[in-house]
Amino acid sequence: MKTAAPPKHSKILILDFGSQYTQVIARRVRELQVYSEVVPFNVSASQIEKLQPNGIILSGGPASVYDKGAPQIDPEIFSLGLPVLGICYGLMQMAHHLGGEVVFTGRREYGAGMLHITNGSKLFDGLGNQLDVWNSHGDEVTLLPKGFVAAGRTESSNFAAVEDRQRHLYGLQFHPEVAHTPRGKEILQNFVYHICRCAMDWTMGSFIEEACHRVRQQVGNEKVVLGLSGGVDSSVVAALLHKAIGDQLTCIFVNNGLLRAREEEVVQRVFGENFHVKLSYVDASARFLTKLHGVIDPERKRKVIGEEFIRVFEDAIGDLAKTGHSSQITGHSFRFLAQGTLYPDVIESISIGGNPSQVIKTHHNVGGLPEKMHFELVEPVRQLFKDEVRQVGLQLGLPKEIVYRQPFPGPGLAVRILGEVTPERLSILREADTIVQSEMEAADWYYKVWQSFAVLLPIQTVGVMGDQRTYENTIALRIVESQDGMTADWVRVPYELLARISSRISNEVKGVNRVVFDVSSKPPSTIEWE
Ligand code: XMP
Repeated sequence: MKTAAPPKHSKILILDFGSQYTQVIARRVRELQVYSEVVPFNVSASQIEKLQPNGIILSGGPASVYDKGAPQIDPEIFSLGLPVLGICYGLMQMAHHLGGEVVFTGRREYGAGMLHITNGSKLFDGLGNQLDVWNSHGDEVTLLPKGFVAAGRTESSNFAAVEDRQRHLYGLQFHPEVAHTPRGKEILQNFVYHICRCAMDWTMGSFIEEACHRVRQQVGNEKVVLGLSGGVDSSVVAALLHKAIGDQLTCIFVNNGLLRAREEEVVQRVFGENFHVKLSYVDASARFLTKLHGVIDPERKRKVIGEEFIRVFEDAIGDLAKTGHSSQITGHSFRFLAQGTLYPDVIESISIGGNPSQVIKTHHNVGGLPEKMHFELVEPVRQLFKDEVRQVGLQLGLPKEIVYRQPFPGPGLAVRILGEVTPERLSILREADTIVQSEMEAADWYYKVWQSFAVLLPIQTVGVMGDQRTYENTIALRIVESQDGMTADWVRVPYELLARISSRISNEVKGVNRVVFDVSSKPPSTIEWE
């Protein structure tokens, strides 16, 4: 296996003081095609020297520099001769440790402001005299450290932008990384290209190389298992790991009987036939349906499905061990479990005030598996946002139907069948769902919305077909737009499209005589019906 180090490239280190925007800064730098790495705020100056960055960005953070246990930087970092940009709390750190004065004014400034640029700083090259900026801070610099001058002011602060050109130290009280600072990207561009002198030498291709290298270093010759769901995240991880470690990777694809029509075919075709990934296909539909027999309560359904998934996964690994995939080193054949954890799944926060210790909350999308089975985790895309993962997927050659597919819940069609899940109901819902998807695609709407799907309401209403009275089920149509699934609104698709979907479902799907359109937003409703 090749483990040659990827070529050296420009690098920006981001010290994380707990801002909700830290990863957004990393992402903005990546958009400039420069490699960036987020490291904890307490990294030492000597560690930084070893990492050889071209420059450093200090993130914002929720603390006040005077809070008990507030995160503090190693002040030696300012003497390394590297350019540093302090954002918000990062600026306060800079002022505080270099002999300036920071006060907590008691009023937190949030929201839009106007920055007046006062001394032609390199940071604002090409940006004119004033800029719309976004503030969110509590502390304020009241006295500049020696060597610093003001570079811009806002209505409420004379030191909204500061610099020490000699030492290449820069500070901003506002947030250049957020969309509400419309020209913030240009400020970061000036810092990264002109002050840190980074080259544009990092692309999704370099990410893939780098990620492959890291994975090889992490797993050595050991085996890795991945639960492949067919969703974007696990699919991209499968393709990435296959590139990195080939047959050391085994994917387990569990058919829980709650999948969309022909889902298992698509996954087997793409990964088995096209990528030649070692794929273990487990048809556990009967097991899941037996467990779901008589279950009506939505939470209970989810719990039953989650627990059964863990059992099926364990059994599948046991079977692989028996059939010779095993090295039996750790009691089961695989030392590593790969997961498609993305940055938004990783909620990291630094808690201060009452609790001086650093608290990191991590949410994994495969609940329960790792702790019980003593896997070490491989999470090669945990620094990326969804759209970046999609780019990686495309670059690795995954088809559009996988890379741009809509999210599909783990408990599958079970949360789209109100009441008990039965084979008959699944079959009705699959047929209706296939019609929704094909009509959405045909009308060019499928890729424009967050999700579009059918829900089976097993309540019967009266209808008429030919001369016959019917008494059949209702399908609800849910089409929503959303950024992240946290909030959503129903999509105003053309009536003609609704008409086509409705008439096809009631004409073609036996057991349905009525179609309704869900016009609820989230909140107060949720996207799924259960
Ligand atoms: P709700 O229904 O909570 O859904 O508004 C928000 C988004 O999450 C998806 N969803 C799930 N995804 N496992 C998943 O992997 C689940 O149990 C689950 N429940 C909901 C849902 O499809 C929507 O995109």
